[in-house]
Amino acid sequence: MKGIILAGGAGTRLHPITLASSKQLLPVGDKPMIYYPLTVLMLAGIREILLISTPADIPQFRRLLGDGSRFGLHVEYAEQPEPNGIAAAFVIGADFVGDSPVALVLGDNIFHGHAFSDVLAEHVRDVDGCVLFGYPVHDPHRYGVGVTDESGRLVAIDEKPERPRSNRAITGLYLYDNDVLDIAKNLRPSARGELEITDLNRVYLERGKAELVDLGRGFAWLDTGTVESLLQAGQYVLTLQQRQGVRIACVEEVALRMGFIDADACHRLGQEQANSDYGRYVMDIAREFQAGV
Ligand code: DAU
Repeated sequence: MKGIILAGGAGTRLHPITLASSKQLLPVGDKPMIYYPLTVLMLAGIREILLISTPADIPQFRRLLGDGSRFGLHVEYAEQPEPNGIAAAFVIGADFVGDSPVALVLGDNIFHGHAFSDVLAEHVRDVDGCVLFGYPVHDPHRYGVGVTDESGRLVAIDEKPERPRSNRAITGLYLYDNDVLDIAKNLRPSARGELEITDLNRVYLERGKAELVDLGRGFAWLDTGTVESLLQAGQYVLTLQQRQGVRIACVEEVALRMGFIDADACHRLGQEQANSDYGRYVMDIAREFQAGV
């Protein structure tokens, strides 16, 4: 399976913070926001990744992640000059995706939860149609909302409904079979001029091929859409990290544990950042891993 991270947009809701920087490069806790969705794809076992962003922001992402080889990944970049919709990712990324299934994650979505990699592993295998992930929120009108029948089957998806029919937000992580390329190509822009991800998902729904997986309340899906929620997300990450002594979304650690790099390579990556607590953590992880702790 291939992976796409969509990290464009103008970040207008966070101006002036995002006037000169991509939203998805802002800090969440001790690391850039993009590390969180990146590690989601990595935990799903995905190593071939396309990062889509604005022409102005791509050089910064490239500076941060390079070609991905340091993390045992293959990272490519593609431009989205205007924010013409989330589903446009599959038009821009068609050549990259080729004939593979594909996972899309929004660059500003933060997931954290016990055994997330198991949940991902279970669903990335043999995707037939699309798999969406639902999460209960108190303000569903701000999101795509999934409606299910008594048996839990997905029957409707409403985009930012005034009167939500459920509290189940559809998160910004989507798994698709290869039909997604054709469906995206044939979508028409919505009234606001965007290729809507919800319209794309509705095509799968009409074909009886859309599944909604509940992430449940024991899970964290955090918002970064406002200054307050951005700070809260950072605080959440720092609080858990301090309490548990392990880091969330540490790219080097995930690469090591997924077998994408070995302990020596991981240690070197830590050493390059040895002036920070983060870098020293990466070195410790590499040493512990080598010692079989
Ligand atoms: O976060 C999950 C929600 O994401 C879903 O529940 C909604 O169904 C989906 O429409 C989307 O809603 P948002 O209101 O969050 O979409 P927004 O336009 O803010 O875009 C989400 C991220 O994707 C944001 O970081 C910018 C980026 N983006 C968005 C568009 C439309 C792009 O990179 N390019 C785009 O063209």
